[in-house]
Amino acid sequence: MQHYLREYPLQQGALEIAYIEEFFSEFPKRKTAAEIMARLEGRDFQILMAEAPLADEPGTLAPVSYKVSHELRENETDPVLADLVERLRGSLIFTGRRVLYNWLGATRRDWRGQGHFRALSEEQEAWAVRGEYDEVVVKTKNRYFDMRATLDSLQFNVIKLEVAPDVLDAKVYLAKPLGLSVLDAHRSRRQVTRA
Ligand SMILES: CC(C)(COP(=O)(O)OP(=O)(O)OC[C@H]1O[C@@H](n2cnc3c(N)ncnc32)[C@H](O)[C@@H]1OP(=O)(O)O)[C@@H](O)C(=O)NCCC(=O)NCCS
Repeated sequence: MQHYLREYPLQQGALEIAYIEEFFSEFPKRKTAAEIMARLEGRDFQILMAEAPLADEPGTLAPVSYKVSHELRENETDPVLADLVERLRGSLIFTGRRVLYNWLGATRRDWRGQGHFRALSEEQEAWAVRGEYDEVVVKTKNRYFDMRATLDSLQFNVIKLEVAPDVLDAKVYLAKPLGLSVLDAHRSRRQVTRA
């Protein structure tokens, strides 16, 4: 299957992500365009979306899956990111390495299981390898079984588990070392447009 991906610049991408997040009622906190811009401004980032035909209008392509990632530095000043780095310390090496953080990502329910997220992830990895990133890291929770299964299929390693009173709320941190060899495992057919 051919996947149609679009890579966005900051402002347009932030608006598109805020729009698509509205379709995910299952997420407790959806991001606004202002939050997305504030997080990504002044750092290396990638905003990627996959588009696919609508069931009732096959001639129209709509955004169905997305992935937002950004550089995570050892010396973050934003309190949320500084906290994330602290939690990862001991499980992930930052010094002298480029680390990419998979911040946001999901596929709309009706388009799941069609390889959209794999296509986005593979495109992101190709971009990250070109950008000389050493590792990509992501955080999820026990309760997100679909995401955990997907990260497993994409060959992420669990690097840390933070227990919580409710086991479903335990936070799972996963990472994947990057390098030319990860590209060998790629299998999606992708056409990428820069918006
Ligand atoms: C996780 C999610 C992004 C997967 O998107 P998707 O477009 O359906 O994923 P893909 O079709 O590209 O599948 C990628 C791989 O994961 C596997 N996979 C996807 N969903 C799976 C599931 N529910 N169970 C088992 N494997 C699954 C696929 O088989 C595929 O592996 P393969 O390429 O080796 O066959 C989607 O289910 C989703 O948006 N879930 C909600 C997001 C969420 O829970 N967010 C919480 C915050 S982290």
